[in-house]
Amino acid sequence: MRDRMRTEGSPYRKAAKMVPVHLRSGVPRRSRALLFAIICVVLIFFLPRFDLNLGGTLMFLLFSPDVAGSTYQEYQRPAVDILRFIDPLIGTANGGHVFPGASLPYGMAKAVADTQSPAENAAGYVSDDNPILGFSHMHDSGTGGNPSLGNFPLFFHPGCPDDDFAKCDYSVMHRGTYRVPGSAFASVGYFNINLTNSVRAEMTVTEHTALYRFSFPGTSIVNTGAEDGKPKPAVPYSPLVLVDLVDLANTRSLGGIQVYPESARVIGEGQYNPSFGSGHYQAFFCADFKGAAVRKAGTFITNNATEEPKFLDTVGANHYIPTGSAGAWIQFERPEQNFILARVGVSFISVDKACQNAEREIPDFRFERVEAEAQNAWRKQLSVIDVDATGVSEELQTTFWSGLYRSLLSPQNYTGENYLWNSTEPYFDSFYCIWDSFRAQHPLLTIIDPAAQTQMVRALLDIYKHEGKLPDCRMSFCQGYTQGGSNADIVIADAFLKNLTDGIDWDLAYKAVISDAEVEPHDWGVAGRGGLVSWHELGWIPWNDDDKNGTGHLSRTISRGVEYAYDDFCISLMAQGLGHTADAQKYYQRGGNWRNYWNDKQKDLYRDKKNGDILQSGFEGFMQPRMANGSFKYQNTRTCSPIQNQHSCYYDTGLDTYEGSPWLYSFFAPQDTAALIGLMGGDDRFVERLTFFHESGIAYLGNEQSFLPTFQFHYAGRPGLSSYWAHRYIPRQFNATVNGIPGNDDGAMGAFSAFALMGFFPVAGQNVYLLTPPFFPQIRIRVPVTTIKGKKEPDKWAVIRVRNFDPEQKAIYIQSATLNGKKYTNNWITHEFFLKGGVLELRVGLEESTWGTSEQDRPPSYPVDWPEGGHKGRLDAGRDRYDPEFDDVG
Ligand SMILES: *[C@@H]1O[C@H](CO)[C@@H](O)[C@H](O)[C@H]1NC(C)=O
Ligand SMILES: *[C@@H]1O[C@H](CO)[C@@H](O)[C@H](O)[C@H]1NC(C)=O
Ligand SMILES: *[C@@H]1O[C@H](CO)[C@@H](O)[C@H](O)[C@H]1NC(C)=O
Ligand SMILES: *[C@@H]1O[C@H](CO)[C@@H](O)[C@H](O)[C@H]1NC(C)=O
Ligand SMILES: *[C@@H]1O[C@H](CO)[C@@H](O)[C@H](O)[C@H]1NC(C)=O
Ligand SMILES: *[C@@H]1O[C@H](CO)[C@@H](O)[C@H](O)[C@H]1NC(C)=O
Ligand SMILES: *[C@@H]1O[C@H](CO)[C@@H](O)[C@H](O)[C@H]1NC(C)=O
Ligand SMILES: *[C@@H]1O[C@H](CO)[C@@H](O)[C@H](O)[C@H]1NC(C)=O
Repeated sequence: MRDRMRTEGSPYRKAAKMVPVHLRSGVPRRSRALLFAIICVVLIFFLPRFDLNLGGTLMFLLFSPDVAGSTYQEYQRPAVDILRFIDPLIGTANGGHVFPGASLPYGMAKAVADTQSPAENAAGYVSDDNPILGFSHMHDSGTGGNPSLGNFPLFFHPGCPDDDFAKCDYSVMHRGTYRVPGSAFASVGYFNINLTNSVRAEMTVTEHTALYRFSFPGTSIVNTGAEDGKPKPAVPYSPLVLVDLVDLANTRSLGGIQVYPESARVIGEGQYNPSFGSGHYQAFFCADFKGAAVRKAGTFITNNATEEPKFLDTVGANHYIPTGSAGAWIQFERPEQNFILARVGVSFISVDKACQNAEREIPDFRFERVEAEAQNAWRKQLSVIDVDATGVSEELQTTFWSGLYRSLLSPQNYTGENYLWNSTEPYFDSFYCIWDSFRAQHPLLTIIDPAAQTQMVRALLDIYKHEGKLPDCRMSFCQGYTQGGSNADIVIADAFLKNLTDGIDWDLAYKAVISDAEVEPHDWGVAGRGGLVSWHELGWIPWNDDDKNGTGHLSRTISRGVEYAYDDFCISLMAQGLGHTADAQKYYQRGGNWRNYWNDKQKDLYRDKKNGDILQSGFEGFMQPRMANGSFKYQNTRTCSPIQNQHSCYYDTGLDTYEGSPWLYSFFAPQDTAALIGLMGGDDRFVERLTFFHESGIAYLGNEQSFLPTFQFHYAGRPGLSSYWAHRYIPRQFNATVNGIPGNDDGAMGAFSAFALMGFFPVAGQNVYLLTPPFFPQIRIRVPVTTIKGKKEPDKWAVIRVRNFDPEQKAIYIQSATLNGKKYTNNWITHEFFLKGGVLELRVGLEESTWGTSEQDRPPSYPVDWPEGGHKGRLDAGRDRYDPEFDDVG
């Protein structure tokens, strides 16, 4: 068995530096023989050091699509196995909530060890020193809510005290066992960890099935659980596995389980709550064990195990299962080879489907095969991107590839597992949440996996068709809580503008977004929008809104308002494209409603931390809450930023901004940043303000609303400052350590760093990408094959190349640019670049230049006629007052 043990969080850190092998131009393109020779050199060079999977690597090299060929490439590089730059443990501490276990791209099966880490184990595993509670097969990565899924955990004892199964610990309250420090290791498609009870657990997955290999030392165990210092009785070697019906958040209501000793199979099901939404979901499993003869089997309730009955369910007096831990167990004879394989199929449809999934996907129980196939799936997935990393640190490369990897873990592909309705459409779940993912993750998928993004859009539309509204957040077949606007509108408009087609019913899509804009649902806490009557009549959501059409938390009036305005603007772009001209005009106008929140007299007031004096920064004009009669209410401009009461702005906490301050939301008008700049006092004043935002600590990169403001300098003609801030945040806040994400990942943090490192950032919902220099000498993105009509054409790439590349990352300012050899002065590009391919060459230098600075170089803004002073409706006096109501800086 290979030893894959590494220090937690740094599996590659101590690895030797790779030696780039560059060939001069003139090498015959696509010379298989040469490529193979290079590959062999690379293999020989790397194998001893990097513990590559030989079989998998050869498979990749021989059968994966040609990664080296390019119409634009000057030289060929050897294929580097980029999997070695993926460290799934990044973001498993410090609130990143990343799932580090084994998963396929968008995979439903996600196997990992679950740790008892309060408030941190949203994705199961945390890099800390809390006990391990079990190994479970489904998770959500990077979320901010309660722990998701984690149903049906397995747990192995190497034997039981006095060889008595009843003396083993069963319940989740009792069985927690410490890990061997430093034993956790994660690589793509694989996770392992050693527990102090002497059991080693390894896991890998297919689409709907987890495969575990539990290894034992092969002798009786003395002194298990020695970490608490108390000697324990010797445990004779006779492994016992338990399968618990609990989930991570302990929400099970119904459930049932049955063990079949003759076939070493356990099947079961349960009903659970979603982690950030309403309702229940059902889940099923089918577990088979191989490698040892069955000795005894039975069931348990809490910590009480018995040999009879062999099944439990929620009905029937004798077999009643309370909530909490309950399940089945099997005790084995000594395994033939000191390990036992556990194959666990999961399904949301039925036990039969779970068993079929397992039998179809892993008929042979061959761990290495499953692992190699998982690795190959990821290699294929990531082969659309190719970087020349000459001179770039391993650390930065690891940040890059790991971020890309994380942004492909979710939404999860539950196609074929939807029990809610019959449909031939794809079904994706774990849109968790679109408020987070519309800004970077979905735009990233649109470029690197348009086929998947297309299926996701179709899934969203199918949800609309069957449930009446698009989701803003969804997990485990349940409606999730809406954080702000109905931001699926932006995802759908973005897909429309970028010409995703392939089965998307655009008429249905249009109906879906119009429904968001026009029809308020009864419970707008989980779908659609609230306060729509006011939105239509006044153009803002009043603080004292009298909403008779639906219910939801009457909070977040500013943040919902500016998001509704942007949603409406995106709808107008779609309306325009679909020929609904009158609608286009209507929604374009509504897109201007963000201005209704603009209080040009509002000062930035704060309290001196020492003497309590009220101070002001000099910035004036902020988005503020408004009353129905038009007068402004007050929320301190800094409240809910990291420097003032950061955690006071959730959907149920009553304030007018969500997870951020008025300072932050005052930058959110991507449809008309030019007007915003005007309101803020012009280019220079805007730049001062945006700089202050980043420097003062008001910006918080751990949440997605700060993504665009990092690059927003482009709109004031200062693209160099966007590059400056991208480099300030990477690697300082996005790096390759277990702590390396500033907030919970949401799949979005990884997408943010991937974009920033590649040198462009999307203005989601518009056909705009803001340009900054890549952190690599060159990046290439393969043009999607679907856009190449008719005959098979050679691979095309969209290439971004840096002239004067500076490995020290000091020359980070674009001096000049060419696109396909022609001078290019816009500081932004459109999606056509990724659809047609081409070469964008950026010459960089140590100082900001005039490149991309003039009015006509800037990204588009869409003006709306607006009354002088920037207000609609009546205003009252005294709107710049200081109201300490929400200000307890102290
Ligand atoms: C984990 O267990 C395996 C198998 O028992 C052993 O080879 C390995 O050295 C252990 N690793 C650590 C870090 O304890
Ligand atoms: C354990 O379960 C068995 C069977 O359900 C029951 O007879 C027994 O009383 C339980 N023991 C305890 C301690 O709860
Ligand atoms: C789906 O169709 C099957 C076969 O017609 C039917 O048995 C099942 O109830 C349907 N399921 C749903 C959720 O409508
Ligand atoms: C999702 O799963 C379905 C069914 O297995 C498959 O056909 C489809 O290609 C998958 N989509 C992606 C993006 O992997
Ligand atoms: C989408 O298609 C339209 C019509 O063919 C075309 O004008 C537009 O440039 C395309 N957009 C992109 C982003 O390729
Ligand atoms: C609000 O409810 C009224 C009365 O049912 C209805 O006529 C109107 O269309 C609703 N408005 C919205 C925006 O949903
Ligand atoms: C890595 O990122 C984390 C999270 O943002 C940060 O706390 C830490 O200081 C960074 N580490 C380094 C070495 O920059
Ligand atoms: C608007 O309403 C608020 C709250 O009801 C009130 O305090 C204020 O005086 C009103 N302003 C005007 C101009 O009527």
